[in-house]
Amino acid sequence: MNILVLGSGGREHTFAYKIAQSNLCDKLFVAPGNAGTADIATNISISVTDFDAIKNLVIDEKIEMVVVGPEDPLVQGIADFFANDSDLKNVALIGPSKEGARLEGSKEYAKEFLFRHNIPTAAYQSFTANTVNKGKEFLETLKPPYVLKADGLAAGKGVLILQDLETAKAELENMLTNKKFGAASEKVVIEEFLDGIELSVFVLTDGKNYITLPTAKDYKRIGEGDTGLNTGGMGAISPVPFADSSFMDKIEERVVKPTVEGLTKEKIEYKGFIFIGLIKVGDDPKVIEYNVRMGDPETEVVLPRVKTDLVSLFNHVSNQTLDKIDIDIDPRSATTVMTVSGGYPEAYEKGKEITGIDQIKDSIVFHAGTKIDNGKTVTNGGRVIAITSFDDDFRKALEKSYQNIEKLTFEKMYYRKDLGFDL
Ligand code: AMP
Ligand code: GLY
Repeated sequence: MNILVLGSGGREHTFAYKIAQSNLCDKLFVAPGNAGTADIATNISISVTDFDAIKNLVIDEKIEMVVVGPEDPLVQGIADFFANDSDLKNVALIGPSKEGARLEGSKEYAKEFLFRHNIPTAAYQSFTANTVNKGKEFLETLKPPYVLKADGLAAGKGVLILQDLETAKAELENMLTNKKFGAASEKVVIEEFLDGIELSVFVLTDGKNYITLPTAKDYKRIGEGDTGLNTGGMGAISPVPFADSSFMDKIEERVVKPTVEGLTKEKIEYKGFIFIGLIKVGDDPKVIEYNVRMGDPETEVVLPRVKTDLVSLFNHVSNQTLDKIDIDIDPRSATTVMTVSGGYPEAYEKGKEITGIDQIKDSIVFHAGTKIDNGKTVTNGGRVIAITSFDDDFRKALEKSYQNIEKLTFEKMYYRKDLGFDL
């Protein structure tokens, strides 16, 4: 069948890489894609939220499966758009309904869902501009650090963790009254701080059945030792070494099962990925967030470990027969290291020529922010290229990624050299 992947990052290049290996895939399209996807698929220059243009493409190219990479089209209701259109309703769309996507689109909605289904998470209250003073009083009842979360999508910037009570009150005011994050912070969730180590669990569900994919841990901060500003993610490791089988059992019983059962019970249409952000507090998992898509760069380590044909898995999602398939996972560790443009996550330049890609051996090159310009591969974003490697343990895999990364060059290239330092 003909398949379309929506998105343009390392995550989408990884999807395309896996799908291109499947015998079930005839023609593969990526919209808008990058220089990496251009090598293995046809890039189509349309926006992931231009539903009418996507519809035309699907009809013109007889596309039978659409895999949605990023959250924006999901939160804007692309699954409902397909389900309600007589020309599109038989296309297998991998991604939740608009209602399901609210698990990522609204922090308050996610917290309410977690509490309704008794899934462990931090205590919280939410506030609006009308209740800003109540919010300040609530902060006074908490111990530092204070966790403030803009309710809506804020491109990963909407969470503030503050040590000082007066700063926390001022930021709450900023978010609610001065709309620091625009409409996203018209509502703010104030949460109990959870102290522990983070990991992510990925689930693929058809709305009734699910399979748990490998765990991963990403490194969000720009600086070594987890310092400096938050980024989209500077690298990832899978599996997470401290997630042993007894801890995974707890995650399955207390988090994954009740999440999928909750979706089924509430009749929320959900055929897609659930990315569950967790903190291990003592020996127990607590949910910090849901995302309704795969993570980036977590995808670059999770999917390469999935040996089962990805298109076949997606067919089972679409037909709600995930209970009929077993998933085969590569037992080796995978690591990915992200190279970024100097200046990122603040202002950075684009259009820098990238060399050395063809020198890379024994690792997989996943493009993120790249494009072809006059026959040359150039930078086109903050996160540029991720280098994924496999080995028996994550330290050896990291060594391979680091050796290969030295062959890459572009002006002001930066990457973290300390991934795994905390493990
Ligand atoms: P989120 O966007 O909800 O993933 O939050 C961004 C980051 O803030 C997370 O990756 C955590 O590092 C941190 N964080 C979020 N909620 C909490 C919490 N309740 N306690 C401690 N850290 C948190
Ligand atoms: N790497 C974190 C995310 O994709 O949200």
